[in-house]
Amino acid sequence: MEARRELFGGRSAAILALAGSAIGLGNIWRFPYMVGQTGGAAFIIIYLASCLLLSLPIFLAEAIIGHRTHSGTFGAMEQLAPGTHWKWLGLLTVLSPLIILSYYSVVGGWSIGYLWQSVTAGFHADAIGTVSSAFGKFIASPGRPLLFHTLFLLGCAWIVSAGVKSGIEKFNKVTMPLLFVLIVVILVYAVSLPGARAGVTYLVKPDFGKITPSAVAAAMGQSFFSLSLGVGTILTYASYIHKKENILVTGLGTVAFDLLFALIAGFAIMPAVFAAGIEPGAGPGLIFETLPYIFAKMGASAPWLSAVVAVLFFVTIVFAAFTSAISMYEVGVAYLVEQKHITRRKATVLIFLGTWTLGALCSLSFGPLAETKIFGLTIFNFCDRLTSNFLMTFGGLLFVLFVGWKMDRQAVRDEFTCGGTVRFNCIVFDAFWFLLRYIAPVAIVIIFLTNFFA
Ligand code: TRP
Repeated sequence: MEARRELFGGRSAAILALAGSAIGLGNIWRFPYMVGQTGGAAFIIIYLASCLLLSLPIFLAEAIIGHRTHSGTFGAMEQLAPGTHWKWLGLLTVLSPLIILSYYSVVGGWSIGYLWQSVTAGFHADAIGTVSSAFGKFIASPGRPLLFHTLFLLGCAWIVSAGVKSGIEKFNKVTMPLLFVLIVVILVYAVSLPGARAGVTYLVKPDFGKITPSAVAAAMGQSFFSLSLGVGTILTYASYIHKKENILVTGLGTVAFDLLFALIAGFAIMPAVFAAGIEPGAGPGLIFETLPYIFAKMGASAPWLSAVVAVLFFVTIVFAAFTSAISMYEVGVAYLVEQKHITRRKATVLIFLGTWTLGALCSLSFGPLAETKIFGLTIFNFCDRLTSNFLMTFGGLLFVLFVGWKMDRQAVRDEFTCGGTVRFNCIVFDAFWFLLRYIAPVAIVIIFLTNFFA
């Protein structure tokens, strides 16, 4: 079994793949918006603390399971706790990333649609309402969103079917540096716009008065979401990391890239939003309504430049979405290959068929299936709520409890310290162990509860 498994080529390949999973729409939109809403620079400080004291230990818990077993989520549970109910955690974390992938692919498809439009026609509008209604019409029309959803998922299937090394690793190695270059180019453009200063102020003005308990919970939730925790993607990618690798370094590297990208994205987007005189607001509205409107507005004075930036921007979104989506796809493929013993190619096709079908239903729930409701929610919203509010936090909690309370302390220490050979890791192990056993479970429950009461 061990001999047949492909591994990432080295430390940088592993970090780039993990960062590829982590960096996504959460960094580009959710983070900047939360910073502005919840105290600017003060929020960034709490966010940093949440990343290091909470999400990094959870990340490492997942990584330790994958790295120790060199197996996907289901196989890992079978190995570490054979014949117990923990297998349900293995199964849950095969299913939850596939549900996310289904609706994520719909949004990825919209981004391809907008990229296409930015290349072919550009954005023209005299009011934000015009852009919003064009977006509403686009997602409700059954044909084009389905076509783009199909293209997006086919792209993922193509990369994943090529394998861990020549598919996933290669794609991330090219795409991740490109994403950083693109977002920096966009940053330079954005801060040079007249009126951009207000956006910078929005992000950096520290307002410690806004640091309420709910802001702290929001920071914890955002760091959890941004690092793609709780659904087995980190576990699965970590299972492809070489045995000798120091996973604390891998974890710190991933957190650093994720945070850096979120900060650059924030300073790229908020200045543009303010320069266009728009109030920042949350949700997919930013990417498909606010930004096209900004591009249309900027186009009036500098048509070429704004058209080029629009294309670069949607390329960034599409690639950021791809690198996250393939990490979810891989969880399902690893399960089928390892547990059902079918070829990677066949596994890729089966996952494609399943996620395409659920994704198509999600896509149609903006148009023809708008009246089909589950617990009062459309299919898309149901899948989103189910995964974001329940499955991610539940999975994260169980992983943490598993490593902190079920696994043997010595085994965890071995993984964390590379068999006791890395001095620094030995020194910080007790702190990690404490955070994992006592702080992380309580914090995850708080994140879970704030989904409902905040
Ligand atoms: N981390 C991703 C982002 O910041 C979103 C995400 C959440 C995710 N959970 C995931 C991505 C699981 C891949 C797998 O946008």
